[in-house]
Amino acid sequence: MSIVSSLKGWPSLEAIASDLNSVSIAALLEQDSQRFSRYSLEAAGLFLDYSKNRLDDRAMAGLLALAEERRLADRIQAMVSGERINLSEGRAVLHTALRSQADELNVDGANVMPAVHHVLARMKQFVRRVRCGDWLGVTGKPITDVVNIGIGGSDLGPKMVAEALFDPLSDARANPQGSPLRVHFVSNLDGEHLLQTLAGLSAETTLFVVTSKTFTTMETLTNARSARRWFTEQTGIEDGVDKHFVAVSCNAEAVAEFGIAEQNRFEFWDWVGGRYSLWSAVGLSIALACGMENFEELLGGAEQMDKHFCTAPLADNMPVILALVGIWNRNLLAIPSVMVTPYDQRLASFPAYLQQCDMESNGKSVTVQGEPVAVKTAPVIWGAPGTNGQHAYMQLLHQGNEPVATDFILALKPRQNTPFAEHHLPLVANCFAQAEALMRGRSRDEAAAALVAAGRNQADARALAAHQVLPGNHPSNMVLMDRLTPATLGALIALYEHKIFVQGVIWGINSFDQWGVELGKQLAKTLVDDLDSQQSPSPHDSSTRGLVERFRAAQACESGESASE
Ligand code: F6P
Repeated sequence: MSIVSSLKGWPSLEAIASDLNSVSIAALLEQDSQRFSRYSLEAAGLFLDYSKNRLDDRAMAGLLALAEERRLADRIQAMVSGERINLSEGRAVLHTALRSQADELNVDGANVMPAVHHVLARMKQFVRRVRCGDWLGVTGKPITDVVNIGIGGSDLGPKMVAEALFDPLSDARANPQGSPLRVHFVSNLDGEHLLQTLAGLSAETTLFVVTSKTFTTMETLTNARSARRWFTEQTGIEDGVDKHFVAVSCNAEAVAEFGIAEQNRFEFWDWVGGRYSLWSAVGLSIALACGMENFEELLGGAEQMDKHFCTAPLADNMPVILALVGIWNRNLLAIPSVMVTPYDQRLASFPAYLQQCDMESNGKSVTVQGEPVAVKTAPVIWGAPGTNGQHAYMQLLHQGNEPVATDFILALKPRQNTPFAEHHLPLVANCFAQAEALMRGRSRDEAAAALVAAGRNQADARALAAHQVLPGNHPSNMVLMDRLTPATLGALIALYEHKIFVQGVIWGINSFDQWGVELGKQLAKTLVDDLDSQQSPSPHDSSTRGLVERFRAAQACESGESASE
């Protein structure tokens, strides 16, 4: 028996779930006129409606009892007070410290807050110099373009936030020449990413921010080396790195070895997980793109959510409720994936960011003690901005036979002063309509009646109606905010971070390691050698051996082609 299913509360939850098997969400809403107000809550500028889920008061009480049984409140305290809860790596997990106004927070007796505030102050000064054109490149010109080179947590979070907070209506980002500072992100090892990003950039006015917690990541270092070569070739200046390369990393030695001086390194610490690091100096590209004031507001919004998470009773605690509803859908209703769909173009990269945060954190199958979890853990997270998904994959949700839970995210008001404000009402209508359609569905009788009303005869209507049935009863959450601002975005990200933590606690897993990604990295190193040499490759399965041989043959053929040209 697994650690989770051996919990006292688990069997009763299973019994409640089987009772609710034949219940429709529409009926639950109809039976209780107060359900919307009882199954919704507000915190840190966000509103969560979870009333369109297939659960009732007994289920909620059972889930909350499970959280009590797992001593969730103690686990929250353990995390935010700097205990080394990441046991397999022996680390504290303190991304909350990065957005805290507190003066003191100790890890093993050492106060980490002065260092946090010191790095923020350095970032502020640097960002101001770059943005106001005070930081000059090797030929004395101000910076026009910033290229963040990083991958995973050193890319997805900063990229998502920089895109979300980009303000095309403001000229506050303008440099002295009057053109805005452009921030780009390069992550892919495929040289095309760097090539396409650098096309049209001037090396004399480009600043590279090499972001890597470890500074050993193959993708990032390969891109950074190529960027340095490009810079030197373009400018013809060998010693300009100091004015065009800064690093964000925990690894001072590797940064120095790369050739970036210590005064150009922005540090963070091993108690900041890569996928939780956008609040640290990893957010430098965010601050360069949007200004330090906006970055500070982002931190402020997250801190509001942290305070709520640490103090609100479990039953009124937004991350806790979102997590428990997720546990219900994943474990009790056996729904394998969650579609995350922001009805907001600014949040286009939010699903990709959340994919790493959730799936790298909770994609585990052993408990903290190394025992099998034996219940399903992280769902597959996927999605794209509404309304685009409606015209791509929503058909499968409405009429396919794979259950999917959905998180809708929406700002009630559009960007202030947008000239296209009239788009917002139909956007909101589409968002609410999808949630309603997923929940309500359409019966064959309803479909047939609509066809008859449209002029079809009874027999035709009946036949065609079979194709127009939508089973419905698909659960969804709706996260609303008044407007998307740095503060509400900070709160939104913190909401999901804490949701992930709570689910990890319930499943008894370590949400903060990622050993699973290591094997692929090791094999890639061996394969680089195998692909690069003519010797017989190191032992592989016959499929991989065949692929290596095919690659070598293609290379040989290419060399032959170039020799005959
Ligand atoms: O792929 C695993 C991972 O370690 C992520 O957890 C991390 O965000 C990413 O690689 C990048 O790591 P780094 O910031 O050390 O380059």
